Amino acid sequence: MWLADNRKPASEDCRIDTSSSLDPADWPAFRALAHKMLDDVITHVETIRQGPVWQPQPQENRGRFRQSLPTDPRDFGDVLDDVRTHVMPYATGNLHPLFMGWVHGAGTPVGMLAEMIAAGLNMNCGGRNHVGIDIERQIVRWMREAMGYPETANGLFVTGSSMANFMALTIAKTQALGLESRRNGLRAADHDLVAYASAEAHGCIAQAMQLSGIGSASLRLVPVDAAGRMMPSALKMMIGEDRAAGRLPFLAVATAGTVNTGAIDPLSEIAEIATRENLWYHVDGAIGAIAMLSDEMRPLFAGIEKSASVALDFHKWGQVPYDAGFLLVRDGEKQRQTFDQPAAYLQRADRGLAAGDSWPCDLGPDLSRGLRALKTWMTIETLGVERIGQSIAHTCMLARYLASRLESHPLFEVKAPVALNIVCFGIRGRGSDLVRVMVIDLQEQGIAAPSWTVIDGELVVRCAIVNHRTTQADLDGFIAAMVAYLRRQDF
Ligand SMILES: Cc1ncc(COP(=O)(O)O)c(C=O)c1O
Repeated sequence: MWLADNRKPASEDCRIDTSSSLDPADWPAFRALAHKMLDDVITHVETIRQGPVWQPQPQENRGRFRQSLPTDPRDFGDVLDDVRTHVMPYATGNLHPLFMGWVHGAGTPVGMLAEMIAAGLNMNCGGRNHVGIDIERQIVRWMREAMGYPETANGLFVTGSSMANFMALTIAKTQALGLESRRNGLRAADHDLVAYASAEAHGCIAQAMQLSGIGSASLRLVPVDAAGRMMPSALKMMIGEDRAAGRLPFLAVATAGTVNTGAIDPLSEIAEIATRENLWYHVDGAIGAIAMLSDEMRPLFAGIEKSASVALDFHKWGQVPYDAGFLLVRDGEKQRQTFDQPAAYLQRADRGLAAGDSWPCDLGPDLSRGLRALKTWMTIETLGVERIGQSIAHTCMLARYLASRLESHPLFEVKAPVALNIVCFGIRGRGSDLVRVMVIDLQEQGIAAPSWTVIDGELVVRCAIVNHRTTQADLDGFIAAMVAYLRRQDF
């Protein structure tokens, strides 16, 4: 019996008072509204091709989200109508097959449902003894297997690779300075720390240096070759110069798929240098690492298995809905040594809800965390690694197709080699101004959503084909739309 002997069952002397509960008063009505909304979101995904890729919000729509704090309740059905009218039409657009800007995954209906289930169960995955922790550990096991890491590896879901890279840098710094540096900070360091990444590395690496307190001036940007890959000989030379100047090289970051062009640094050669020089070897695999799931693409990433840590994103090529970043660390004990925080209120037990030696909160800075693992697990369980891998390889094939069609077209020129799924191109004989305005117009007209970047000082159109829905016919339509657009400009 759960009641003490001197207490009567609740039903005998009091009615259950639910007036302070935030649950619906009318569950059947709530259920009906919820089912309708679920249907509407499924229809939104199912018919995604029929609408514009993206549309700017009219001023009145922005106004809907500039109101003061509401005090009184509103009918839930009315709130859902607001979502239909004011939210759904103005999303980012990344579900659409012609969204090619930045590096956005498209998600899947399975992942969408998983998010709903995760929110319903509302687990706090910072720790404790429940199934959410086991699902996350399942993903750790899978990623160990995929990356060729040993049993000692551990890992953690995080928001994205920006956070995963920052955490890897923090582990590397803690190892280089000793565990006491967690308390003493950088002041106690005998030498200035220096890290290395290519000149094409993502900006979050420099930011991680800033956040760590080391400072981005201590990030050496190693020159790249014509294909945008780090030059190992330059890395070796820079490490030598820093050692000669009394500095302490501690970290080499290789990129597996650079943000500008998708270039893959020479992972094995960098691994060798890092091992010889006793540097932490981290791979920023935000874009590319998940391609280890593809038999066809795995050879491109040879050397990733030698790294000390890998940052990767399920929410990009893995098509898991945002957000689902991940950090995998070869020696899980080093990860724990960096982040664990003994606290009386978090003490463990050998049974009960506080059971378990190591909790996710010991492996990173977050204590409260949601169940990102469920949408990842459901996506991989439902689709299977082979199908996900094939969709990744397919986007690379599409990128090569787009590049070859552009290259043979009199109006366009490809500006960088296509290593993976990113195509950068310009308008022949025209500079940055037309590129800029064309990209914006295509976005605003809802035709396509490429983005841009700068290559050799010149603004170029950048298409990152991440979306599993994109087809060759979509890309033919994209080229035709650009040609029509340029003709309208009398070009
Ligand atoms: C190479 C690379 N590293 C890191 C990041 C940051 O990842 P996230 O946006 O998941 O934080 C990106 C984002 O596109 C990236 O391309």
